[in-house]
Amino acid sequence: MMINSSFALRRVIQARSFMKIIVACLSVPALLFSYGLVIAAESPSSQGNTPMPWAYALNTPDVEIAFEFNVPRTVPGSDVEFVFSNPRNLYQPPDWHPENHPEMPEIVARGREPLVFACGYCHLPNGQGRPENTNLSGLSAQYIIQQMADWRNGLRRSSEPLHGPASAMQAIGANATEEEVEEAAAYFSSLTPKQWIRVVETDTVPETIVAGWMYIEKEGAGIEPIGNRILEMPEDLERTELRDDNSGFIAYVPVGSIARGEQLVCSSTVGGAPCSACHGAELKGLGPVPALAGRSPSYIARQLFDLQNGRRRGLWSPLMAEVVADLAIEDIVAISAYLASLQP
Ligand code: HEC
Ligand code: HEC
Repeated sequence: MMINSSFALRRVIQARSFMKIIVACLSVPALLFSYGLVIAAESPSSQGNTPMPWAYALNTPDVEIAFEFNVPRTVPGSDVEFVFSNPRNLYQPPDWHPENHPEMPEIVARGREPLVFACGYCHLPNGQGRPENTNLSGLSAQYIIQQMADWRNGLRRSSEPLHGPASAMQAIGANATEEEVEEAAAYFSSLTPKQWIRVVETDTVPETIVAGWMYIEKEGAGIEPIGNRILEMPEDLERTELRDDNSGFIAYVPVGSIARGEQLVCSSTVGGAPCSACHGAELKGLGPVPALAGRSPSYIARQLFDLQNGRRRGLWSPLMAEVVADLAIEDIVAISAYLASLQP
């Protein structure tokens, strides 16, 4: 193992100073292009509802996180050294902790050109994922396969057409072969989800910007009211930027939202049946129905909104129709906060 002095130096510097934001020439279209995608603009939704910016985080124009490319990097607790190429290579994600997961199939570790980016790049090798995508670990293979089929059939779209990661996922779903999907589904379903998000109720949050499709603290940030939103941010920006699958997230949620979410989730007043009837007693999934406990609140909120607005209308989506029909944004905040706070 080589000692990487630049990393050692960076480790003593707190995340705050790491977050030196440099003005770069990257705009939203440029970043979409960096995902190899150009998508046609679509009207957000038939009902004219505006997607919540806190859930569908769009990069702040002209802002990028400073990142050292083409030098050996490592993360705490890993013997692996990895050199990030520039621009970021979505077919070659780092695997910092190979001992913590089974061997990845080629499609997860490397993907396939064109447009089937390595699943492990975004969802991470242990499947835990990030706020702009989602946790796949422990979801049933049948569910993963059905979702990929929904994308292939054009039935899963984002309410925010400018959300680059969701557009990338749409392209991956459209281009992955059945065999690739089966291999990836077998891999992710074999993994055990772990606690990944620390939920904190608060009245105020740091001022933020969005970079890398994530909320991060603004340089020299003051504080502002949280209002009716959830802000999900990395626990350690540097490790998250290095795609360390041992470094999770913190979700700031409004005071009282966890208890309110619990009431909504555990009563049968939403959609006529308690969530546990389909998602399992502890909301850890039941048969092909996905787990909800401990998952990213930004992701949960996007899905409730997309289901409500008919952007997600897969084969099994009608089972959620009554559940989401009358949800207000306040309800979506509360439900997402509560679900994220549960043990996965
Ligand atoms: C460029 C980043 C990226 C890559 C690479 C990627 N995904 Fe995704 N994936 C996403 C995003 C973003 C979402 C969430 C979309 C949303 O919020 O609407 C997602 C969601 C999913 C879901 C839905 C999970 C659920 O609970 O419904 C599945 C299944 C999935 N991805 C499978 C895969 C597989 C299999 C691969 C590799 C073949 C892959 N993804 C590669 C970004 C990515
Ligand atoms: C009648 C059965 C049923 C009930 C009741 C139900 N769900 Fe679901 N839910 C499903 C199914 C099936 C899916 C997968 C939908 C699809 O494939 O499009 C789903 C998907 C979801 C998703 C998206 C998860 C993901 O991984 O993308 C969320 C979030 C969700 N449900 C939340 C809830 C909440 C909260 C409740 C209770 C208020 C609830 N559900 C009640 C059947 C149900």
